[in-house]
Amino acid sequence: MAESKNMTRREAVKVAGAATIATMAASGPLIRTAKAADGVKYGMIGTGSRGTYLLKHLKSIDSGQCVAICDITDDALDKAQQTIGGSPKRYKDWRELLADKNVDAVFVTTPLFLHFPATKDALEAGKHVFCEKSLVFKPEEVHALRELVEARPKQILQTGLQRRYSEMYQAVRNMIEKGLLGEVTYVQAQWHRNPGWKMKDVPNVPKRMANWRLFREYSGGLVAELASHQIDVADWMMGMTPEAVTGLGSHDFMKDGRDILDNIQLIYKYPKGRRLVWTGVPGTSHWAGVGGARTEMGEIICGTQGTVHITIGDDNNMPIGMWFREPNPPKVETAKKDKKEKYVAGATMVAAAGSRPLPILLSKDLMTGKESFLEKEMKFARLWLYQKGILVPEEPKNPVDTELEAFFNYCKNGGRPKADLEVGLADSAAVILSNIALDEGRMVQFNEIDKMGLPAGATAKPAVKHG
Ligand SMILES: NC(=O)c1ccc[n+]([C@@H]2O[C@H](COP(=O)([O-])OP(=O)(O)OC[C@H]3O[C@@H](n4cnc5c(N)ncnc54)[C@H](O)[C@@H]3O)[C@@H](O)[C@H]2O)c1
Repeated sequence: MAESKNMTRREAVKVAGAATIATMAASGPLIRTAKAADGVKYGMIGTGSRGTYLLKHLKSIDSGQCVAICDITDDALDKAQQTIGGSPKRYKDWRELLADKNVDAVFVTTPLFLHFPATKDALEAGKHVFCEKSLVFKPEEVHALRELVEARPKQILQTGLQRRYSEMYQAVRNMIEKGLLGEVTYVQAQWHRNPGWKMKDVPNVPKRMANWRLFREYSGGLVAELASHQIDVADWMMGMTPEAVTGLGSHDFMKDGRDILDNIQLIYKYPKGRRLVWTGVPGTSHWAGVGGARTEMGEIICGTQGTVHITIGDDNNMPIGMWFREPNPPKVETAKKDKKEKYVAGATMVAAAGSRPLPILLSKDLMTGKESFLEKEMKFARLWLYQKGILVPEEPKNPVDTELEAFFNYCKNGGRPKADLEVGLADSAAVILSNIALDEGRMVQFNEIDKMGLPAGATAKPAVKHG
């Protein structure tokens, strides 16, 4: 936190204290309770980088209990066991894990090309499934997974799109619903890495498999691994899915035997003239959003009345967002029957003056009237810091924890995940079609997916639209 020129020492001390207390209050007491005996008993299939990361978070979530892990390598199983502790059963074949009656739910955290086969087997074995994004790999899997899940309404299928569980992202969605950004017509998103993914050596694992995300046989490349999160954000914020996609993709920089594209620009055409532009390039990590305070990835959501910059962050940098009111917004017209306004055509003036960023307030910042004296002081201090531009509201909790807790809750009590089957399938369809657009150098219509991967003459089941 930088100290403002105008801030007195007394204020700074008070504010620093308040911010510290606020952080502590937001993250809750550091007391761990014993795992609930009726917690959801889960297994994890694919305990590599993401699987182990989720286990690190799952360790402190009491509503779930790890009873089984599965991977093809001992090394991955050892790391997973060390991370979660206890004595989960170890499997090398997921079918054996799925035959284990003690397992209620599974996490599918394998490479992308195995998401569908593992999820299919898990659903057929009667388990609830949390499958990482991108949900499926091939067009035929979009249709097949819809049939499988719809035939099993009591089983949960959640996709690992954690932004849907972020309070900051939800606050922005609420702002859009309330009209604070006006008409959202344009989203700009990037995921730039410097350098990009490196080719690695893993003992006892064939090189192509150890580096599966670099090979088209197993992976959807940057679009599946990175853009998938942000296409979903654009769909969610605009409340619609794209009609078509086109772009430019090439393999220019990372020449180490990989066959995925490493330099990608995509344009998505949504209804009513809206657009998403996504870029994924290596060799730079700067992001112009949130005043350049974060790198790599983020989304800029532009509306006629305002713009939001937002990014998810990582374990050490929680989601943050900034809101800029449009300096010269068009008047919001209300129907006036008698008075006809006169419009004069002509060149518009350049509007160079911007607006100061405004905080996106979260529940911890809002006054409820029930605060103690100290809590009220803390909230005033935080708002004061936000106004001065010294502190930016940060989400107190990692959305990954929220999505995992939510999954166990759905398993126990039912309900529809925020990142449900249709959210996951729309996202996967977008990934598949974007890669076709890049490979074939053409504009691909989104309804092309309806005919892909089906026998001649067959029609796809339509997506189920939820309210
Ligand atoms: N939501 C997110 O932000 C996020 C972040 C990172 C990764 N992911 C997703 O998580 C998934 C896994 O990615 P990763 O980075 O952990 O990859 P990884 O290569 O580190 O791990 C994959 C693991 O699956 C194992 N595996 C391969 N074949 C298997 C089989 N037949 N049975 C059981 N295990 C098998 C591998 O041995 C490896 O340990 C990908 O789909 C990726 O897109 C999501």
